[in-house]
Amino acid sequence: MVLSRRGSGSITLPTGQTLAIHTRTHDEEDLPHATKKTMADHLRKYESLFTLTPQRMRMIVEAFKETLEIGLSQPDQIVPMIPTYVFGFPTGQEQGDYLAVDLGGTNLRVCLVSVQGDGKFEITQSKYRLTEEQKQDEGQKLFDFCAESLKIFIDTNLATNGEHQLQPDELLPLGFTFSYPCLQNKIDHGELIRWTKGFGATNTEGRDVAEMFRQSLKKYNLPVVLTALINDTTGTLIASHYVNPKAKIACIFGTGCNAAYMEHVADIPKLKDLGIDGSVDMAINCEWGAFDSFAHEHLPRTKFDIIVDETSNKPGEQAFEKLISGRYLGEILRLVICELIDEGVLFLGQNTYKLEVPYVFDTAFLSLMESDPTDELLMIIGIFTHFFAVETTLAERQFFRALAKSIGKRAARLSACGIAAIVSKMGYLDEGCQVGADGSLYNKYPGFADRIHEGLFDIFGEKGRNIVTHHAEDGSGVGSAIIAAMTKARKEAGLYVEL
Ligand code: BGC
Repeated sequence: MVLSRRGSGSITLPTGQTLAIHTRTHDEEDLPHATKKTMADHLRKYESLFTLTPQRMRMIVEAFKETLEIGLSQPDQIVPMIPTYVFGFPTGQEQGDYLAVDLGGTNLRVCLVSVQGDGKFEITQSKYRLTEEQKQDEGQKLFDFCAESLKIFIDTNLATNGEHQLQPDELLPLGFTFSYPCLQNKIDHGELIRWTKGFGATNTEGRDVAEMFRQSLKKYNLPVVLTALINDTTGTLIASHYVNPKAKIACIFGTGCNAAYMEHVADIPKLKDLGIDGSVDMAINCEWGAFDSFAHEHLPRTKFDIIVDETSNKPGEQAFEKLISGRYLGEILRLVICELIDEGVLFLGQNTYKLEVPYVFDTAFLSLMESDPTDELLMIIGIFTHFFAVETTLAERQFFRALAKSIGKRAARLSACGIAAIVSKMGYLDEGCQVGADGSLYNKYPGFADRIHEGLFDIFGEKGRNIVTHHAEDGSGVGSAIIAAMTKARKEAGLYVEL
């Protein structure tokens, strides 16, 4: 038997964690690993499952466009195309200090934003990790937690020696970024249609979450007024445009995925009876993550996507999001690995129980695998030994890396389809437009933006290059503050829309 040569060391991950690794040159001799040829054959099979051809993408774009139109025409559609009551873009001259609370998919963030005009701002913030229990517990408790965190923040940062010295009786305007689909009929109100991103807090769906949060703010006696309820995409649209007036669309590719853009009120038929001036513009929160939900007619779902959907807390829902967002990509890859374990191809003779737990394979691992710079793929060794206690051969690691690439690429190409649908609906292709994008996938997944751009080229040909995504300004903090400023100005001008 050939003796394996081992080395050991450690790698520091971009997350700051340190992984102990050990390398072996002849590891395939010790355990019954799959051959290089077997792994290459499997790879071909999965790659074809996850591939999206330009033709297929164009078909998706057409269906998507139609869905956007339907959502604007009729109420209560699957893709709800929510009017946000954010009227037009900021002038760039907005000013003042605003608080923002951002209840995201993973964290709660509290910010004090000083909006300074001329596209400038300063931000002070604190972040709190949300626990799984909080996401599923009684809804009012979740809002109490938001209010309690805001209280701590105010006590620390707005005390007499803080950044902003609160005057007696002063009430600070507060923007609440709540990134779940909410039906709005004014800017400081929003009825939660459904939870997404794995949230399931009880007694919240169908209720006005702004009102629930107000109750919690009252409980803690906080010196604030909730001025605006904002989706993260709407905040991103406004913040991106504040610093870059060419930004006309905003997308989030994070734990969830969604987009917002500015629409002419005259082109929102479902609002026509409300008497709003048709010549003004209003931001639309598309909630495009719901595209193709329930019917599953347009998106290419693999058997792994179907398992992800059926085992989720919301089967049938968020069909588009489940193929794209950071919450699900790791799980899709894990399910492929589990299939190969079941078939006796991978990890024969090794204990794989750690890999068998749903959602243990973080999407961050896909990013790390794709960016592993070493020939031996040491980072991938580290991930599998450290987190899952299994040994891998180079051929297997190359397979995992290529698989991550296929899944990540499909997510980016589908994202391109959504952007293309808005671009094509709004007629932005010839003049071009910038798309402010944010979220962990967009910011941290290597090559995600390039793959979106490649996708846009595949859909539109050369003109696709006119559509460029860029890392957006912080929509949930800065965007929310600017919207609070815009709303305050509208109220002062007697333009507040109450229906
Ligand atoms: C939510 C959207 C949100 C997106 C990105 C989705 O799950 O439904 O409201 O904008 O995630 O955070």
